[in-house]
Amino acid sequence: MSTLERNLVNVELGERSYDIKIGNGILSNISQTIKSVSPNARCVVITDSNVNRAHGDRLRGFLDESDIEHFTIEVTPGEKSKSWPVFQQVVDDILATKLERSDLVIAFGGGVVGDLAGFAACVVRRGMRFIQIPTSLLAQVDSSVGGKTGINSSHGKNLVGAFYQPSEVLIDLDVLKTLSLREFRAGYAEVVKYGLIKYPDFFSWLEGNHQDVFAHEDALAKAIQTSCKAKAEIVAADETEAGQRALLNLGHTFGHALEGYTAYDGARLVHGEGVAIGMMLAHRFSNRLNHCSMDDVQRVQSHLKAVGLPTEISEIHGDMPSVETLMSFIAQDKKVKRGALTFILTKGIGKSYIADDIPPSEVSGFLTDQLSK
Ligand code: GLY
Repeated sequence: MSTLERNLVNVELGERSYDIKIGNGILSNISQTIKSVSPNARCVVITDSNVNRAHGDRLRGFLDESDIEHFTIEVTPGEKSKSWPVFQQVVDDILATKLERSDLVIAFGGGVVGDLAGFAACVVRRGMRFIQIPTSLLAQVDSSVGGKTGINSSHGKNLVGAFYQPSEVLIDLDVLKTLSLREFRAGYAEVVKYGLIKYPDFFSWLEGNHQDVFAHEDALAKAIQTSCKAKAEIVAADETEAGQRALLNLGHTFGHALEGYTAYDGARLVHGEGVAIGMMLAHRFSNRLNHCSMDDVQRVQSHLKAVGLPTEISEIHGDMPSVETLMSFIAQDKKVKRGALTFILTKGIGKSYIADDIPPSEVSGFLTDQLSK
């Protein structure tokens, strides 16, 4: 059995089902993947300048070997590219290539590129198929799987977008070797999230094996595969977040508010760091509501600290936010229903739940305490 077959996860969504292929060097599968998704397709690779510099030629080399005509659209790295102006430019650039509906978009980069390229694929010619080749740990374990695509608005993160599933996801473990430690850690926060929401044995395993994960040992492949399986299971049960999929937002309501207050400035806070602080806040808030034990809060904190992730708002460089600023971002969360706030809270490690009746005053009181620490 090849590495590729050993590390295959299927996202079961009826006629929109697709595979996630995980392995070292799996990038070399790109031509085969394109041919199986859309024979004779040409493609446009959407990437950012960092990924293009590090891996673009290798990807294009595989396409050239198979005589697949290709174009490249490069965007600036960072969350600020998930914006209307960049989106408009990407859409126009795809149209300028004269690619047709049966041709393919390839999202080649981290979460920003995946969300942006997926949303562009969704709207160009009313929908071109697309392939995700996530190159950051965060994108490999979370954003490339499950079909969430979109951009940010000045009103908040990911407020414009669509559910649009890729045709295949190729996860090449080798590309992670060029990630900075900071980006790797940020992606690891999403790995931890799976343990915390519903898979306590996985969290325990991470507590014992995180050093091997960070050392790119076999444990990394296991962590990625387990995360993708967890995500595939949740997405298959609730593709459009009518219910359980919201659990994947553990830490994200607080995290998105923190990102909003830093104006998505990656020098101050990257998404995974916001999620790490947000997960910590979700556990502390659950403890304040008497739902989660202090032992579990401390266990989560110890693990995040052990890998060097931030756990306090005060660890974000620059001015501290005000409660009002954070509350204004929280009020824009997609899960707000008629003024009541929805949070993913927890009864302990692996026991997250959706709380859809949280009065804003409870949250602002909690944040006031957290900001005065
Ligand atoms: N990142 C959360 C989700 O895909 O639902």
